[in-house]
Amino acid sequence: MKRSSESQALYERLLPEAIAASEKAWCPHSEFPVGAALMTADGAVIQGCNVENVSYGLTNCAERTALFSAICQGEKPKSFRAMLVYAPKVALISPCGACRQVMVELLDKGCPVFCVGHDETAARDWTVEQLLPGAFDAF
Ligand code: THU
Repeated sequence: MKRSSESQALYERLLPEAIAASEKAWCPHSEFPVGAALMTADGAVIQGCNVENVSYGLTNCAERTALFSAICQGEKPKSFRAMLVYAPKVALISPCGACRQVMVELLDKGCPVFCVGHDETAARDWTVEQLLPGAFDAF
């Protein structure tokens, strides 16, 4: 993807963190590891990985692990600079609907979400608004 130098710098900072996060995934049921990396307002990076359960519906995706960890560490909703999601077993990862709804709540609608699989040339840079247009939002 063609990016501004600012976006490219965010991408390059977040990709190795998301790869490292994916290596910590607990995914014995799907064998589909995913890693996420979330940049805070002050430039720190918080990782997330998918954590599965034998009661399959209890699985937590990498994106939500990163977002929930960040909130628990005291980061403020909508204060984040960018998120990157990485999944090595697909050419391009696309976040699930549940994660998109959580992103709407905790990320600014213009926040970039870099999505990357094993084929970096297929990577896509989406915003939260692009991922869930017309979302159910604060009432
Ligand atoms: N998964 C994520 O962590 N993020 C995504 O964007 C898509 C799916 C996880 C959930 C489950 O552990 C595995 O990938 C297969 O669906």
